[in-house]
Amino acid sequence: MLTCRTIKSLTQCLKGYRAAGLRVGFVPTMGFLHEGHRALIQESVAHCDITVVSIFVNPAQFGPTEDLDRYPRALERDHELCRTAGVSLIFVPDASEIYPPGFQIYVEPGPVAEPLCGAFRPGHFRGVATVVTKLFHIVQPDVAFFGQKDFQQCAVIRQLVRDLNLGVEIVTVPTVREPDGLALSSRNSYLSSADRERARCLSQGLFAAQAAFQEGERDSQRLVETARAQITEVDQLQYLELRDAGTLAAITGLVERPAALCVAAYVGTTRLIDNVLLTPPPTALADHELELVSHVINRQATAGAEEP
Ligand code: PAJ
Repeated sequence: MLTCRTIKSLTQCLKGYRAAGLRVGFVPTMGFLHEGHRALIQESVAHCDITVVSIFVNPAQFGPTEDLDRYPRALERDHELCRTAGVSLIFVPDASEIYPPGFQIYVEPGPVAEPLCGAFRPGHFRGVATVVTKLFHIVQPDVAFFGQKDFQQCAVIRQLVRDLNLGVEIVTVPTVREPDGLALSSRNSYLSSADRERARCLSQGLFAAQAAFQEGERDSQRLVETARAQITEVDQLQYLELRDAGTLAAITGLVERPAALCVAAYVGTTRLIDNVLLTPPPTALADHELELVSHVINRQATAGAEEP
C-alpha cells in the first residue's frame, strides 16, 4: 500500500494504473476509520482493480463553532485498517495542499442541500461539494463510494456529479451499525457511556417506523409519530423528517414513493444523524424510482445475509 501526501505524488502513482486501463475506486473519508468505512472500502476492493482512500479532515465543511479541532484522529490505526482491507493507495494531504493560500472558488449546492442538516449546518454541504469536486479531479476515479448513513450527503453528491458532469459513478453503501442498532460514526467516540446508552433510541425509533411501514402504514404523520415516540432520550432533537429519497422534497400525506426517514439529534454534546429507507414494494414503483433504490435494496439484502 502506498501513501501519498501531495497531489503531485498521487498523480504520479495513479498515472501507471490508468495507463494499464485499471478501474479506479475511490473512498473519500475524514479518517478515524471504523467498520462503516471498511464496508465502503470492501465494496470498492470487490468491484475495482485499484482502491484509493483519502483521509482529510476538511476544514471547509465545519462551521466556526463545530468540532474541527477536536475531530478524532488515529492515522496509524487508519493505515492498518486500509492495509488489511486491500487498499492500494492512501492520500493524506495537508490542509494547505487542498486549500493553498489564495484559494477562493467554492462549489455551491442548490436546494438539495437546504433542508435537514443543511438548515442546521450552514455552509456544510458547500464545503463537502467543494472538497469532493476537488478530490474527484485529483483522483479521477471511475467509481466512488459513499455511506447511506449520510443520506443527504449522498443526494448532494449525486446532484453534483449530474450537474457538473463529473463522470464518476456513485455507489451508496448501506449503514453499518453496532449490534444494538446505533449507526457507526467517528463521532460516537465523543459519547460518555451514559450518552452511548441513550443514543440507542435514535435507531430504535427509526426501526419502529420502518416496521410500521412494512406492516402497511403509509400515513407520513403517523410514521413520524411512531419514531418520535421512541426518541425520548435525546437532549435536542434537531429534525425527524420524512423526505423523498431522490429529491429530498418533504413528504406529507401518504408515502407512495421511496422515502427516507431522517433524524439528527444531540445526545450530550454529540450531534448524531441517522436514517432509514421506506421503500414501497418494487411492483408499486415506476422504473426510475426502482433504479434510485435498487442499489440500496440489493446491498441491504447482501449486508443482512452477512450479519452474524
Ligand atoms: P466521513 O464522516 O469520514 O465518512 C466517510 C464515508 O464513510 C462517508 O461516505 C460516510 O457516509 C461513510 N460512513 C460513515 N459512517 C458509516 C456507517 N456507519 N455505515 C456506512 N458508511 C458510513 O463523510 C465524510 O467523511 C466527509 O463528508 C467526506 C465525504 C469525506 C468529505 O469531506
